[in-house]
Amino acid sequence: MYKIVKKKILSQAVKLFEVSAPLIAKKAQAGQFIILRLDEKGERIPLTIADFNREDGTITLVFMEVGETTTQLGKMEEGDEILNLAGPLGNPSEIKDYGTVVCVGGGVGVAPVYPIAKALKEAGNKVISIIGARCEELLILKEEMQEISDELHVATDDGSVGHHGFVSDILQKLIDEGREINQVITIGPVIMMKVVSGVTKPYGIKTIVSLNPIMVDGTGMCGGCRVTVGNETKFACVDGPEFDGHLVDFDNLMKRNTRFTEKESCAMENYKKKCQ
Ligand code: FAD
Ligand code: FES
Ligand code: MG
Repeated sequence: MYKIVKKKILSQAVKLFEVSAPLIAKKAQAGQFIILRLDEKGERIPLTIADFNREDGTITLVFMEVGETTTQLGKMEEGDEILNLAGPLGNPSEIKDYGTVVCVGGGVGVAPVYPIAKALKEAGNKVISIIGARCEELLILKEEMQEISDELHVATDDGSVGHHGFVSDILQKLIDEGREINQVITIGPVIMMKVVSGVTKPYGIKTIVSLNPIMVDGTGMCGGCRVTVGNETKFACVDGPEFDGHLVDFDNLMKRNTRFTEKESCAMENYKKKCQ
């Protein structure tokens, strides 16, 4: 059992948990994730390790309530326990001194960008961060990102804070200004990662994306997380989750991620009825 030692509400639908998981905290590296199961009948869902504290033996999870399991998780409180946590899973991010790295996070994707940006900064990179959300209320981890970035830019779809528009507009502007950019890493909605990869491709700026296909076992056995990268089939859980954004078939990923929409809505409706 894994105890929730701290709960913080980051925005209406986004919660942060610090969970006691000493063995995972000991091994965790930026870019990796866990798979959790809330109870005996619960489904398995992957969440990124947004931070870890080896001394306290805790890992941080930041999640958005989008369906049954994440809503159920969001209702848990400090002191409650999660039945299973498997991890750390996936390959760690490749952290080295690239020079100047632009870290682009959208929505809840800012959470997985944070440990990578932090590790890149510690490795000696100049870190320019661009974070975005639909509106100011949904923008998360601004102070934390500010702290570990040399430069922070903010974008919101409705203009409530920062640039009125998309994170990709800011990246395009930096490129147009002739800023030296050696690498880009971007995590967020698939469409955002597709657009960001499209911005950098003509300039040949290496762009790493972290893919979020539906996962079940997280160990390369079920094939559920199949993605197409450079015309090859890869399993995001063991071959990724990070890949070269210029090679990813994003349209295929978007299509595969909606395979169970009807069943997911049904599960959520049933869960809401149960809670009434
Ligand atoms: P549902 O209503 O069941 O599903 C809503 C949508 O979530 C689906 O349409 C699908 O796109 C996605 N989803 C559903 N089940 C799964 C599954 N088993 N695996 C992957 N995606 C699924 N979300 C966060 O908020 N924070 C994170 O740090 C985070 N990290 C992730 C890391 C990885 C490697 C992956 C693959 C996904 C990550 N996600 C993260 C997405 C998260 O797993 C889904 O939001 C969650 O599984 C939704 O479950 P649900 O039952 O609440 O919603
Ligand atoms: Fe089963 Fe990747 S989640 S193979
Ligand atoms: Mg679900």
